[in-house]
Amino acid sequence: MKKKVYFGSNLKMYKTISDTVNYLKDLSAGTEDLRRRYQNLELFILPSFTSLERAAEVTDQNKILLGAQNMCWEESGKYTGEISPLMLKELNLSIVMIGHSERRHIFGESDEEENRKVKAALDHGFMPLLCVGETAHEKEYGIGEEVLRTQLKIGLHGVASEQTEKLWIAYEPVWSIGEDGTPASPEYAEKMHRVIKNTLCELFPEQGETIPVFYGGSVNRSNAGKYILCPSVDGLFVGRAAWNAQSFCELIEESMNVLETHT
Ligand code: PGA
Repeated sequence: MKKKVYFGSNLKMYKTISDTVNYLKDLSAGTEDLRRRYQNLELFILPSFTSLERAAEVTDQNKILLGAQNMCWEESGKYTGEISPLMLKELNLSIVMIGHSERRHIFGESDEEENRKVKAALDHGFMPLLCVGETAHEKEYGIGEEVLRTQLKIGLHGVASEQTEKLWIAYEPVWSIGEDGTPASPEYAEKMHRVIKNTLCELFPEQGETIPVFYGGSVNRSNAGKYILCPSVDGLFVGRAAWNAQSFCELIEESMNVLETHT
């Protein structure tokens, strides 16, 4: 069985405070046995900003880690509508997601901005979850691997090797995300995870291989087991298939069973 296996979900802009509280309670109860059975299981959920305070009150982060979906790199200032690291620190969160495909492609965030956010998150003791992934066009032009390398090299520029203990990466090809997305084949996901791990090894020769890399993009109960068996996939980052707590519990349980049987 693999050393540590991660399952997480970004709740995007779908759940209100009360939805989130109910969801987290159900998820916590529904994964209790699993967490007991598999000590190597790490779960995380990224609620909306408005739900974070209540989420942190009702969730034991020894069981389910919590994080924000975005963060400004500045501590304070004239940044209307933004949330600073100091504000998130008050909420007792573990993770800050940075550079989700929707941040990059709907809100136009650049690699340089993601880099400022990654460094600010690390400086404030958060675990940055840096998301990378190529668009359908970039894939067509045959530059998917270059895009991942660029996103990682700029996104992680200036990060010290000691800081990588608290760094997670998600690979989410843009063309695989959401209703219109097509899930990547497990072979393609493995190939791109290898590109990511090799780039991380270039940047951090000692630590690169140990930085967890998750696959995301149309993960569901029928394909989760195939991804989790890929040697370079350390976890699954799930959207739609995770937003019902019971279905997510089943997805996790089935994936862990597959892992147990095959490794
Ligand atoms: P999806 O979302 O699983 O619904 O495709 C993935 C994501 O955006 O993280």
